[in-house]
Amino acid sequence: MSAVEPLDSERILELGLAFWSSKTLLSAVELGVFTELANGPLTTGELRQRIGIHERAARDFFDTLVALRMLERDGDVYSNAAEADAFLDKAKPSYTGGLLEMANSRLYGFWGNLTEGLRTGQPQNEAKVGEDLFGVLYSDPARLREFAQAMTAISMGSALAIAEKFPWQRYKTFMDIGTAQGNIPVQVAGKHPHVTGGGTDLPPLEPVVTEYVAANGLSDRLRFQAHDFFTDPFPNADVLIMGHILHDWDLTEKKMLINKAYEALPDDGALIVYDAIVDDERRENVYGLTMSLNMLIETPGGFDYTGADCRAWMAEIGFSDSYVEPLTGGESMVVGIK
Ligand SMILES: C[S@@+](CC[C@H](N)C(=O)[O-])C[C@H]1O[C@@H](n2cnc3c(N)ncnc32)[C@H](O)[C@@H]1O
Repeated sequence: MSAVEPLDSERILELGLAFWSSKTLLSAVELGVFTELANGPLTTGELRQRIGIHERAARDFFDTLVALRMLERDGDVYSNAAEADAFLDKAKPSYTGGLLEMANSRLYGFWGNLTEGLRTGQPQNEAKVGEDLFGVLYSDPARLREFAQAMTAISMGSALAIAEKFPWQRYKTFMDIGTAQGNIPVQVAGKHPHVTGGGTDLPPLEPVVTEYVAANGLSDRLRFQAHDFFTDPFPNADVLIMGHILHDWDLTEKKMLINKAYEALPDDGALIVYDAIVDDERRENVYGLTMSLNMLIETPGGFDYTGADCRAWMAEIGFSDSYVEPLTGGESMVVGIK
């Protein structure tokens, strides 16, 4: 008789209360804990005063961050753990806390209504009170910037992997459709001096993209094109990219966007779609599957999809070949060749 593993509820409790740890980190980013400590270690009292929190809360808050391995403590003196120092100090170009800032200011509250979203199938974000997500974001320059920076943070791993893994030596021009801050164009052009191109997005993104491209010294090879992908044709280029675009939209809209890309590509041109692509069996990629639930919260009809789904849509539209290649952290790219 085979031994039966004793059942244990520990994993269930850990999962159910994971939001305690998550919100502790999000508040630490909001309060600038890691940015303060990047300037040097501080005692409990010094750090508490710098970030403006109550005496009662300080020790537990900081020590929770120690236990979460975001801070280190020597006696009563706190410093950043190495990863937190690299990625959560606002003063460093490697800062990826933009995504966490948006998670804190928007998604954390909206996910509180997940059950209602599951019951109704309706978005639980700004759209719930009749506002358009991108309209709301783009009417406030500070929110727009926060959103664009969050997109850079969420796409950085994939951007670096696409710059590395895609056969750029075969192509000369590219455009990134719905580029947000322009991170993909910057990473691709930064690594491949022979390519030119840029990114398209709605007009309010122009100053944000132009500034980011200039800050990376690439204004001579990258341009911004104001573009509405529902009303305008796609720009022509050897390679078109859609990252975190298709999952925002319903199936009809997804196919319409892939079709517009197909129309704009030359023969042998390539379409790169990247997202939190779900594994074909829909059993493994927690990030991809919860991202799809996030699309339930955020959009009227969006959903994430498997590599097989996307390849089938590409084949239906006319792409002669396609393949799926993993990038980083639960993301993959689906490449379609015209
Ligand atoms: C989820 S973000 C993805 C940004 C970026 N591609 C990335 O992977 O980080 C979606 C982008 O689509 C853009 N977008 C939304 N509606 C659009 C439209 N109708 N035409 C063009 N761009 C649009 C948004 O402004 C936003 O930058």
